[in-house]
Amino acid sequence: MGKLIIYKHPLIDHKLSIIRDKNTGMKDFKAVLNEIGGLMAYEMTRDLPQKEAMIETPICETKVKVLAKEIVIVPILRAGIGMVDGISSLIPTAKVGHIGMYRDEETLQAHEYYAKFPKGVEDSIVLLVDPMIATGGSVMMAIEALKKRHVKDIRLVGLVAAPEGIKAIQEAHPEVDIYLAALDEKLNDVGYIVPGLGDCGDRLFGTK
Ligand code: PRP
Ligand code: URA
Repeated sequence: MGKLIIYKHPLIDHKLSIIRDKNTGMKDFKAVLNEIGGLMAYEMTRDLPQKEAMIETPICETKVKVLAKEIVIVPILRAGIGMVDGISSLIPTAKVGHIGMYRDEETLQAHEYYAKFPKGVEDSIVLLVDPMIATGGSVMMAIEALKKRHVKDIRLVGLVAAPEGIKAIQEAHPEVDIYLAALDEKLNDVGYIVPGLGDCGDRLFGTK
């Protein structure tokens, strides 16, 4: 079974309290979501594979450690976009793929409408980003799309999740490590995370 890591960090908790607050407007919501993305990226990249390389400092030749694999950030549209800048600020060489998903509001069934990944994605470490994991349907469909392209190392970066969604993802894709800022109580009867933060895409882009 992959790891489930829920960050316990005072800065992440504090920033989460800001975006959970319904009175937080679009500008702050966007800024703080990215800040959390950056903090989570720092923690989640601790175990990235490294390799040795030789470089020349202004003084002499020396052995250094560099990242051994390419990193590709794949946000699930739309809400995943809200964490990309924060993560990219720590990994500026990471390429970015995109996968578009929407949930049918009645059935809660996910539908894919767009996918574009960088060349060589199959040999990269993919950070799949979606701040909201409710039923888990969107994430599972995105993981399947990545697996279809032969991606072997997928790490899921969420923000807030419902236990129902996490259970479904772990059962379907037990090798995927999952990183969260909070595991919430449950889903409500219209498929929203409780207490959650409402509709992340709408709050991020001002569409409601
Ligand atoms: C939201 C959210 C997740 C998905 C989670 O997207 O951003 O991708 O729902 O729900 P699930 O775990 O039950 O699949 P939505 O479909 O509202 O699209 P949007 O981001 O474009 O608003
Ligand atoms: N998508 C969201 O944006 N919020 C939820 O609570 C569930 C799905």
